[in-house]
Amino acid sequence: MRELAGKTAFVTGGAGGIGLALGSAFAQAGMKVMLADIEADVLAAAVESLRDSGPDTRGVICDVTDSASVERAAEASQEAFGNIHVVCNNAGVAAAGGIDDISVDNWRWVLDVNLMGVLYGIRSFLPHIRAHGEGGHIVNTASMAGLSSGLGFSPYVASKYAVVGMSEGLAAQLKPLGIGVTVVCPGFVRTGIGERERNRPARYGATQTPDPDSPAGQLLAHIAERLQSGLAPSEVAARVLSAIRGDEFYVFTHPEMRGEVEERFAAIMAGFDNA
Ligand SMILES: NC(=O)c1ccc[n+]([C@@H]2O[C@H](COP(=O)([O-])OP(=O)(O)OC[C@H]3O[C@@H](n4cnc5c(N)ncnc54)[C@H](O)[C@@H]3O)[C@@H](O)[C@H]2O)c1
Repeated sequence: MRELAGKTAFVTGGAGGIGLALGSAFAQAGMKVMLADIEADVLAAAVESLRDSGPDTRGVICDVTDSASVERAAEASQEAFGNIHVVCNNAGVAAAGGIDDISVDNWRWVLDVNLMGVLYGIRSFLPHIRAHGEGGHIVNTASMAGLSSGLGFSPYVASKYAVVGMSEGLAAQLKPLGIGVTVVCPGFVRTGIGERERNRPARYGATQTPDPDSPAGQLLAHIAERLQSGLAPSEVAARVLSAIRGDEFYVFTHPEMRGEVEERFAAIMAGFDNA
């Protein structure tokens, strides 16, 4: 979709981090923007912060783990703006849960937000984009953790591998319809994702904080450090806009992590050598 001005974007997880940066970049490109998020007060502040950035930015409360909530957000967006062209399934959470603490609640929460949330976004908007026929683009936020399991055995890695896989399949199916798909695979980005439990609905049980001296606790501390020195979210957003305009599928923002993916592919090929 070369021309973004005058079009409309919907962004989940839009109240902060990469989602807000995407909203800001879309607004500055002349798009109408609907930010969707589970956190009401932060969402209101985010909408306010973009008040003068673009033609019209609004917010809608949405819990991406709930298909009905995503459906309502889609309806509200169409009522507000008419046709929606760019849909960013970006909301995501992280929780500890490796071999030290295999908490099913952690797995359910992370998979519900990071995987089912993406699915619900696609289900709620794709029929609309196909029907209006003005073209569109679906942007799914995965991670480098969707291509390399550097974070170990964890629900986050499982969810992001799934998002990469489903996006690859979706892109192939939507290409003939003229609808683009992009999967975003950043490394560490300076956002609030490290305050990981703040949006955890009660049905996923209490927050589990690993012992700081355990391997899981040490991994968390390392991740917190890497997040603090991570890339600015605006840089991720700039790459995404360029990918939408140029119809690029993979968005990478951390070229220094290329080796991790090469190592994985080499291991896969070595497996084939033994076939
Ligand atoms: N920060 C990083 O280093 C990094 C790296 C790679 C990928 N990502 C991915 O980028 C995406 C955005 O994360 P971020 O880093 O900007 O984190 P963030 O915590 O700053 O933003 C995530 C947003 O999602 C919202 N959210 C959480 N649960 C929700 C739910 N159930 N329904 C709707 N909204 C919900 C939060 O309120 C928050 O505004 C995620 O998918 C994340 O996995 C982040």
